[in-house]
Amino acid sequence: MVSKKLYLYPIWIRLWHAINALTFLLLVATGISLHYASVDSSLIPFQISVVIHNICAIILTINYGVFVIGNLLTGNGMFYSKWRKNLWPKLWKQFVFYAVGIFKGEPHPFPITKKQKFNPLQKVSYVFAMYFGMPLLIISGFGLMFPEKISNAIFNISGLLFYDVLHIIVGFVLSIFLVIHLYTCTLGDKPGTLFKSMINGYHEEH
Ligand code: HEM
Ligand code: HEM
Repeated sequence: MVSKKLYLYPIWIRLWHAINALTFLLLVATGISLHYASVDSSLIPFQISVVIHNICAIILTINYGVFVIGNLLTGNGMFYSKWRKNLWPKLWKQFVFYAVGIFKGEPHPFPITKKQKFNPLQKVSYVFAMYFGMPLLIISGFGLMFPEKISNAIFNISGLLFYDVLHIIVGFVLSIFLVIHLYTCTLGDKPGTLFKSMINGYHEEH
């Protein structure tokens, strides 16, 4: 029997998230292929990777705009604010739960409510991924897309090299975020609970 049912993921967030996840996965696959491409071999044919990477990059960027504007205009933005308040003690509590408590069947230290959709670890990782990582990824990506628009030299190295290295580092860090994100998404009431929420919009607990 369902003991708690909360509507936490409005349709626009679910659509944004689906487009974001799909384009992100295609960007990772084509980005890795571009990075390891050589004259005679690449995982995905070079020209195809460039076209897919560029198209997905533009879709992801427009979609990112939807996320930022949506969060400004709707109540969803409150889940990304005040993330610094009591940050370290809260993170520690959540970390101890994931490391020990969860295996002893203890209750979640920050139960999900209408006002608290994310636990502190989720909150801080989403804020960093969405408001620090994504802008850097998009800016560095556009630097690579329009190299004629960027400075010739930044910090005494070629501007293009600067944007390229930044793009590769942020792409890598966000890919690691995705792996952790997928794992923490299995830590709801049951392994499938949070995935189901992102499909039907409802968070359910038994
Ligand atoms: C998950 C997201 C992304 C990952 C993991 C990623 C990764 C990469 C990697 C590894 C490369 C090859 C760089 C090299 O080896 O020198 C690359 C190239 C490039 N990336 Fe990304 N990237 C992502 C998103 C984006 C976005 C959002 C944009 C633009 C807004 C973008 C634009 C570009 C451009 C223009 C290139 C040069 C090749 C081309 O024209 O397709 N990327 N990316
Ligand atoms: C295959 C890929 C992905 C899957 C299966 C997935 C799964 C999920 C699930 C189940 C949730 C709901 C649980 C929760 O609220 O924490 C969620 C939320 C979220 N995911 Fe993902 N995700 C994926 C990719 C991504 C990527 C690439 C990003 C960002 C770069 C991302 C950012 C977020 C954010 C910000 C939320 C919270 C949205 C909100 O309610 O405001 N996800 N994801």
